[in-house]
Amino acid sequence: MMSFSSVSLAALLFACGLGPVEVSGASLRARDAVPAGFVAAPYYPTPHGGWDASWAASYQKAKKLVEQMTLAEKVNITSGTGLWMGNTGSAPRLGFPQLCLQDSALGVRSTDHVTAFPAGITTGATWDKDLMYARAVAIGQEFRGKGANIYLGPTVGPLGRKPRGGRNWEGFGADPVLQAVGGALTIKGVQEQGVIATLKHLVGNEQEMFRMYNVIQPGTSANIDDRTLHELYLWPFAEGVRAGVGSIMCSYNAVNGSAACQNSYLQNGVLKDELGFQGFVMSDWLAQISGVPAALAGLDMSMPGDTMIPLFGTSYWMYELTRSVLNGSVPVDRLDDMTTRIVAAWYQLGQDKDFGPPNFSANTDKESGPLYPAALFSPSGVVNHFVDVRGNHAEVARQVAQDAITLLKNDGDILPFSKSQTLSVFGTDAAVNPDGPNACGDRACNKGTLGMGWGSGTANYATFDDPIGALRRRTNVTFYNTDSFPNVPEPGADDVAVVFLSSDSGENQYTVEGNNGDRNSAGLKAWHNGDELVKRAAARYKNVVVVVHTVGPLVLEPWVGLPSVKAVLFAHLPGQEAGESLASVLFGDVSPSGHLPYSIPVKEDDYPDSLGIRGFAFGQPQDTFSEGLYIDYRWLNRQGTKPRYAFGHGLSYTAFNLSRPAIRQVSKLAGAAPPPASGADKSTAPVYDAAIPPAAEAYEPGAPFDKIWRYLYSWLPKNQADDAARDAASGKKYPYPAGYSGAQRTEVPAAGGAQGGNPALWDVAYEVTATVTNAGDKHAGKAVVQAYVQFPEGTGYDTPVVQLRDFAKTAALKAGGGSAEVKLQLTRKDLSVWDVVSQNWVVPDLQGRYKIWIGESSDALFTACYTDTLKCESGLASPV
Ligand SMILES: *[C@@H]1O[C@H](CO)[C@@H](O)[C@H](O)[C@H]1NC(C)=O
Ligand SMILES: *[C@@H]1O[C@H](CO)[C@@H](O)[C@H](O)[C@H]1NC(C)=O
Ligand SMILES: *[C@@H]1O[C@H](CO)[C@@H](O)[C@H](O)[C@H]1NC(C)=O
Ligand SMILES: *[C@@H]1O[C@H](CO)[C@@H](O)[C@H](O)[C@H]1NC(C)=O
Ligand SMILES: *[C@@H]1O[C@H](CO)[C@@H](O)[C@H](O)[C@H]1NC(C)=O
Ligand SMILES: *[C@@H]1O[C@H](CO)[C@@H](O)[C@H](O)[C@H]1NC(C)=O
Repeated sequence: MMSFSSVSLAALLFACGLGPVEVSGASLRARDAVPAGFVAAPYYPTPHGGWDASWAASYQKAKKLVEQMTLAEKVNITSGTGLWMGNTGSAPRLGFPQLCLQDSALGVRSTDHVTAFPAGITTGATWDKDLMYARAVAIGQEFRGKGANIYLGPTVGPLGRKPRGGRNWEGFGADPVLQAVGGALTIKGVQEQGVIATLKHLVGNEQEMFRMYNVIQPGTSANIDDRTLHELYLWPFAEGVRAGVGSIMCSYNAVNGSAACQNSYLQNGVLKDELGFQGFVMSDWLAQISGVPAALAGLDMSMPGDTMIPLFGTSYWMYELTRSVLNGSVPVDRLDDMTTRIVAAWYQLGQDKDFGPPNFSANTDKESGPLYPAALFSPSGVVNHFVDVRGNHAEVARQVAQDAITLLKNDGDILPFSKSQTLSVFGTDAAVNPDGPNACGDRACNKGTLGMGWGSGTANYATFDDPIGALRRRTNVTFYNTDSFPNVPEPGADDVAVVFLSSDSGENQYTVEGNNGDRNSAGLKAWHNGDELVKRAAARYKNVVVVVHTVGPLVLEPWVGLPSVKAVLFAHLPGQEAGESLASVLFGDVSPSGHLPYSIPVKEDDYPDSLGIRGFAFGQPQDTFSEGLYIDYRWLNRQGTKPRYAFGHGLSYTAFNLSRPAIRQVSKLAGAAPPPASGADKSTAPVYDAAIPPAAEAYEPGAPFDKIWRYLYSWLPKNQADDAARDAASGKKYPYPAGYSGAQRTEVPAAGGAQGGNPALWDVAYEVTATVTNAGDKHAGKAVVQAYVQFPEGTGYDTPVVQLRDFAKTAALKAGGGSAEVKLQLTRKDLSVWDVVSQNWVVPDLQGRYKIWIGESSDALFTACYTDTLKCESGLASPV
């Protein structure tokens, strides 16, 4: 029984087109030059995992088990057994199973009887920490129920730097804190079910096009300066590591010219030393481009195990890693550390107890199928048990979809509709794909209601509640299932048109309507000529309500200001629960309470060129993050450019009043930099025997052992194992990279000391409280309060005027004065900048006035609390 994870078809087809080109070994090609100033410095060796106290018990058990493993067994569990073969190798002799790794971040991919949850971006738009967590609990239960050991999510990179970026919708929004909170709560909820979460993709995978290395061209190089890395792109990873994530997936692209999965500075230095990551790093599917260099640079698990060109039964690891250890190139302690990290994560999540094997195959929807699907001839067996893992998860999925719905505009309070309101509905996005919700594999088409983007970040719909069905359950609807405006009877003055629009994107292995993952051809315009549909409707009807299903921001200018366009709602990507969630908002069962997880600009040109998609280049495409900290609202605010709708914007049917703001100092920060982490003692990590094991530990079994074609094995033929051992004995040296050392560093980086970094960074410095009151008398509603920090003037660090630091959502507050108190916290890290010289977080002005702005949107901040006087003021002009 096997399962299969994401695969880049693009790479595959591409490779097949070229025939079997062998690519192997250390350096594929010389590195292309990156722009001046960007360097990928050597950082060796990989720090051993196991020194963080919260993992100590798991490492002890793991070390005991790994000590009993032969070389071939250790190597076996560090790699997949090949594309479409599913799962990692195992150590059956010792009872260590194959691990099943499965997409996606929004539900178990490519199988039946699962919930297709709302996407990450939808979850981010709820701004509701409890729902983020509740969704994750449900997702974790479904992975567990299907027997998937490893959940390939959450996605926090891409961060959403580029509005057209194809996979932004898998994450929670274009802000590091929103991403971090969404990511960390997802990890917590999933891992509490005993499933290992995988935080991905580290890092800089901000566009789809040219993301991967292939035999002709290296993947895009994300050139990121150190401060920007720390304050934006790494921030959610730090928070996820702090949450104890078991696994991290390295990305396809390069960082500063060095492929992310073999970037030693990134993996050994930033991730494993500074952030103190104790779990294991796995490669994105076919993102690994070398054997020994990747091992030295901190990769721990090769997925799916194949070389860059898959399905030839060749691997950079497996039998090659075995050889690399025998010939002395990969130090034995590096292999032991890889294996121990993986086994420790398995113990840490309790998978040694009571965790059944997978009971589904992502390869077929039939009960029986090949056990080794990539093989030419494979024995068959029962691979699908059709286990229904949904429980009552539709409820949490619907709640997320509903609470994410973001009301951008509501002129004349046209919404909510009265119970008797009849509707004329326009747009194919209102009804489920007539060919069936799963008609396009991996949702690689935009037909019918858009519930998720396309690619590996998807799940099959077991059910689909579409908007038109939900509306028809409530009222009389005339549905024009078309994207070109039809002939309609002359509307009366009170008639309402509801127009459905969509904008899709996804992963680069599919091109949908000319968009190769990123929205390269559609741009930020509605698909299917949607702008025209709205304009035509607005010319006929006095009352038009626009509902948008979208992966990200759209430019709304062609019609948003038209007098008859009364209301606009973003329903984001609702997953299977697209219908009732929307109807309950439109008809006022609940007030909308979503807020934008990104800005909606007036025009795309309001962003700098660096935030566009990099096109073709000879050699390595260079994607230089020259805008630094200034993406999304940070950029617009710096330029003084007003968006159409600001980051964090979202209306309700009622109005809220923020009163009694107060700030208190929770802990006094003793100095500008955090004190060195106490108790961080790397010498408590396991110590491994450096002796190269005997070659016999790698000998492949003799007859009657039948190799399965394309299956990847960790054994070597006897003569090859002996040759490798002879190379080591003869002192043949591997050409280690400049700056290489095998000696463990004992010092703890200033910013490090525990999972996520120095724990003092999370000391709560200030707490801001306020009372939120429902100031309306008609509708109950949930309020979102957002806290942004404004740094003191003149610190010498150029810093965005306001940056989100915390947020809270209330329960539904009763009309006519229902109220709740919200609490928002500011940690040391929240008040710090990353100082590239001291390589540490520093509070640039300890005595200075930090303004903590609170409000309902990034551009509606009328209350500020001051860290110097511990006073708050209301009725201020918003800083942006
Ligand atoms: C990328 O280059 C910048 C500028 O030299 C450097 O500060 C940063 O640490 C580098 N990042 C990585 C991951 O190598
Ligand atoms: C490697 O894993 C495969 C798949 O589980 C298994 O058949 C094989 O026996 C393992 N090899 C070793 C050396 O245990
Ligand atoms: C999956 O279902 C099969 C058959 O019902 C069962 O044997 C197996 O233990 C289940 N696995 C998990 C993880 O529940
Ligand atoms: C050892 O084997 C690996 C994998 O084949 C190879 O890349 C490396 O160059 C070899 N080392 C030596 C010293 O020959
Ligand atoms: C729907 O139409 C039917 C028949 O025209 C009418 O009886 C009914 O009252 C209408 N319902 C609403 C909610 O307008
Ligand atoms: C908001 O609350 C404050 C303090 O309780 C009060 O003075 C003010 O009138 C309220 N405003 C509204 C619109 O309710």
